[in-house]
Amino acid sequence: MVIAAFAPKGPLRGEVRVPGDKSISHRALILSALARGTSRITGLATGDDVASTAGCLRALGVEVAPDLAVAGKGSAPAVAMVTPARGGLRPPPEPLDAGNSGTTMRLLSGVLAGQPFWSRLDGDASLRRRPMSRVAEPLRRMGAEVRCAGGGRSAPLDIRGPRPAGPLAAGDHVLAVASAQVKSCLLLAGLHASGRTTVIEPLPSRDHTERMLGAFGVKVLTGPGGPVSRGSRTSRAGFAATVESEGVPGLMPADLAIPGDFSTAAFWIVAALLVPGSEVRLGGVGTNPTRTGLMTVLARMGAGDRIALENRLGPGEGGGGGRGIGTEPVGDIVISGLEPASNPGRPGAAAGALRATRVGADEVPGLIDEVPILAVAATQAAGTTIIEGAGELRVKESDRLSALASELGRMGAQVEARGDNLIITGPTPLRPARVFSLGDHRIAMALAVAALVAGRGDTGRASGCTEVEGFEAAGISYPEFGRDLEVLTA
Ligand code: S3P
Repeated sequence: MVIAAFAPKGPLRGEVRVPGDKSISHRALILSALARGTSRITGLATGDDVASTAGCLRALGVEVAPDLAVAGKGSAPAVAMVTPARGGLRPPPEPLDAGNSGTTMRLLSGVLAGQPFWSRLDGDASLRRRPMSRVAEPLRRMGAEVRCAGGGRSAPLDIRGPRPAGPLAAGDHVLAVASAQVKSCLLLAGLHASGRTTVIEPLPSRDHTERMLGAFGVKVLTGPGGPVSRGSRTSRAGFAATVESEGVPGLMPADLAIPGDFSTAAFWIVAALLVPGSEVRLGGVGTNPTRTGLMTVLARMGAGDRIALENRLGPGEGGGGGRGIGTEPVGDIVISGLEPASNPGRPGAAAGALRATRVGADEVPGLIDEVPILAVAATQAAGTTIIEGAGELRVKESDRLSALASELGRMGAQVEARGDNLIITGPTPLRPARVFSLGDHRIAMALAVAALVAGRGDTGRASGCTEVEGFEAAGISYPEFGRDLEVLTA
């Protein structure tokens, strides 16, 4: 267990390139494994989660070079080559270890549902607690055999394709909750189905799978999906994605460039805003509109003129610096620190410079992974911020709503988790404290950012360190967090 100490810091200044996008990296590896030849990927994410996907694919006979289990921890290779298993995926000799990664487990489930052999997918204690019936049930409807532990709800999962061997059944799936992991699982299974597979979500979730399938030669139809019911609410139009297949994926190999991870950049966006005098540039970050809801909310809170997007490139416009084809929009995010409302010009935390806001349930999918860092920003905003319909946060790597209430609470923040809502009242001066990551990478890093302004009152004088117990969790998505913090505060 690593206890990392973070002192309140002066302005953050300089430029960092955050690691490659974790969501997009998983998809790049998995789709490459289903291609008819070797694919080339630049800018893969460096964290443990993507190394878990690579490890599972290797166990299924796919060649991933270099081996991310060795090279991937904090230093992903500049270029990775992925060569599919000759003659198709092979039965894994041992259970596949998805580690802490929900994306690995759910996306691979869709692939394994189309294979003529049993595989077992397992993960760490956190992953074993997360709900898996959301993928197991629709995969069974497609004809796969899926057995779950935990009363039929959770990992380990045992999965195999239809018996006798043949394609999965195509058809429509209406999701109760917007989830890119479930949607992607079913689209991947759809590549192993004969006919059209459509996934309809109540709200649009991140569309990386749909975009990337195009680079592998698969056309995905997207658009309004017809009426769906959400709980007791009246029906409304959903958002649909459709793939068509003849039962065998057979994708074209691709040459891909992965942009920087917006969800990682988000920590520096909020850190730079909250520490007056900061000037930070984050180069080459993915700006897919299904991911950047945090920017919209921060602008509404009054930070619009402090965040600029420069050097914007559209998908396919050389997002990888000429080293592969981007499937996503990218840009440099440039942030200038806010000034404290009561003491402009003084070097204290930018307390009160932001306004509280209401984040509606319809905005949550676009900032699902940014709620922890948004909560930190809200502790310094004037008024009560309410994030509604965020119940999915309770089934992430930790119960993030409870984690934020308890851990930011230890630092003096007023944060309440009530049902599906998170309610934060500010501005509150944060104080240094011993806090716990609860094994969750995004909680660990959100607390580290809170620590940068904790004990930094109106005078700007720093007092005491915040200790984040279990900070090693940050390695799941951002092993270089500490190094980049040093770069920005040197
Ligand atoms: C992800 C989707 C989101 C997100 C997760 C990564 C993905 O989960 O929280 O970190 O890569 O598809 P859900 O799709 O379950 O909301």
